[in-house]
Amino acid sequence: MPPNDQLEARPLGKNLRPLRAVVPFIAPYKGTLALALIVLVAASAVTGSLPIAARFLIDNGISTGESDKIDYYFKLVMGVIVGISLLSAARLYLITWLGERVVADLRKRVYEHVIRQDPTFFEVTKTGEVLSRLTTDTTLVQSISGVGISIALRSSIMLIISIAGVLYTSPKLTMIILLLVPAVIIPIIWIARKVRKLSRTAQDKVADSSGMANETLNAIETVQAFTLEPLQGSRFGEAVEGAFSAALSRIRVRFVMSFGSMFLLFGAITAVLWLGTREVLEGGMTAGDLTQFVIFTVLLGSSGAMLSEMWGEVQRAAGAMERLIELLEAEPEIKAPENPVALPEHGDGRIAFEHVNFSYPSRPDTLAINDFTLTIEPGETVAFVGPSGAGKSTTFQLLLRFYDPQSGCIRIDGVDIAQADPAAVRSMIGVVPQETMIFGTSALENIRYGRPDASDADVHAAAQAAAADEFITKLPEGYDTFLGEKGTRLSGGQRQRIAIARAILKNPPVLLLDEATSSLDAESERLVQDALERLMEDRTTIIIAHRLATVLKAKRIVVLEDGQIRAVGSHAELVARDPLYSRLAELQFRAAEADARAVSDAVANG
Ligand SMILES: Nc1ncnc2c1ncn2[C@@H]1O[C@H](COP(=O)(O)OP(=O)(O)OP(=O)(O)O)[C@@H](O)[C@H]1O
Ligand SMILES: [Mg+2]
Repeated sequence: MPPNDQLEARPLGKNLRPLRAVVPFIAPYKGTLALALIVLVAASAVTGSLPIAARFLIDNGISTGESDKIDYYFKLVMGVIVGISLLSAARLYLITWLGERVVADLRKRVYEHVIRQDPTFFEVTKTGEVLSRLTTDTTLVQSISGVGISIALRSSIMLIISIAGVLYTSPKLTMIILLLVPAVIIPIIWIARKVRKLSRTAQDKVADSSGMANETLNAIETVQAFTLEPLQGSRFGEAVEGAFSAALSRIRVRFVMSFGSMFLLFGAITAVLWLGTREVLEGGMTAGDLTQFVIFTVLLGSSGAMLSEMWGEVQRAAGAMERLIELLEAEPEIKAPENPVALPEHGDGRIAFEHVNFSYPSRPDTLAINDFTLTIEPGETVAFVGPSGAGKSTTFQLLLRFYDPQSGCIRIDGVDIAQADPAAVRSMIGVVPQETMIFGTSALENIRYGRPDASDADVHAAAQAAAADEFITKLPEGYDTFLGEKGTRLSGGQRQRIAIARAILKNPPVLLLDEATSSLDAESERLVQDALERLMEDRTTIIIAHRLATVLKAKRIVVLEDGQIRAVGSHAELVARDPLYSRLAELQFRAAEADARAVSDAVANG
């Protein structure tokens, strides 16, 4: 559960309407809710009878001096106490269960909805914000959907019972209390509001300083290389001091509040006791009446305070629910049409771009892909080359249907992918990205991401084909070795082979390969190339090439510039014909060529 400060710092709701959205989450548990409410009403009724039992104890028991009467009334009070304890515990159990259940369902629903959004959504919504909605905001909703309802109801019932109680016991003292209450409550509410505001400032300052620490720790090598330690140190110091002074003003207000509320509360109770005792002396009421009155007063005070506390809580929950509804109502633009066209069951992977024009939603004025037309035959390997920003990766985004083109269409096996279910399109395509994402789990499970229902034997076979088996079996626990967050415990070449193993396991008819730009040592390079070659066999492959060895193997090379196809041909043809390509080949592939020569030398020398 997020810390209190974080909960307090979330903005309040403007109105309470969003809370209606909680109802469907509570609805499946109507039975539990009804039971909880019954227990709650019973608990309140029994608590309300405690002051009366205490009066009987004093007036009809203790003050008579007869031991069997005293025993009887003590037993009675004891019975009431047992009832209160049992019912309160049962109420707490049921209500907390309900709150936890509702928030668990809510979290699941929000997460499942969010991971189905398209990339445009994530360009607009920061991951940090999604995370704090998923944790902090759902917790705020939890506090009202279970405990909140309970406190509000119980306090309201207790408020009514205790108002009736004090009025019935002594109308005169009640009048005095009515005069005292505003004098006590108003300053406390005012100060509490101030504390809340200061908490928010303090929380912001702490977030500032930890954001700064996060940034520098992630770039620690840059910081040290530029010897920025003293500068960063003093910047962080300033941020921390800022947080301290914000906390200090909050502590000061808390000091006043603590003094003020103690003094006002106990002062008021003492004043009532004082006046009441005079009443008893003058014969206006009995000692039991006074006791009953004081207990009712305490119940009245505490339920009133609870209710005012709840009000803030309800507002905060409304704000939280509003932000959650925003997530739940987000609709991905890329989704399956009403009647999606089915892709062939075992398609052979013919790809056709037909006059595709596309610009990213955040840059509607520039065409990232411009009148792009290209057909790739089943089983063919085509290499895309071009300067940085030419649109190579964008073609992959479009093929995977992360975005739809503004005009033109992309067909896989003759089906316009905009008419198909994105999940069906993606199941036909295997991707080996530039940077392999490794998940925080074992090597076995990491490869299984390629096809979640694959057997262990299939995973091993895929790893062997990807030349990954050898290094995995040498890991401390073999295939069960935990690979660490983001796979920092693997080398670049090892990560790539995990990605290749995933694609082999998936066994798709279409393969998209974004060749890693970071160069590997000759040995890993050879292993990766061999694995890739096995992967590309009998599949339609588009490879964004950064190495000469790769383009030499491709039958067709497509040169991209500014989102357009500039030239198509073999390496030899393009070197002769296209100045951009020959310059790229010269600059980009020269280093790689040296690598390739080293590889062939190494192979020749055994
Ligand atoms: N999410 C995005 N939103 C807006 N513009 C984008 C987005 N992604 C890429 N672009 C822009 O689209 C153009 C093509 O980008 P793309 O990533 O396809 O280039 P690339 O050919 O893969 O380059 P590189 O070789 O550097 O990877 C670039 O001008 C880039 O700035
Ligand atoms: Mg790219």
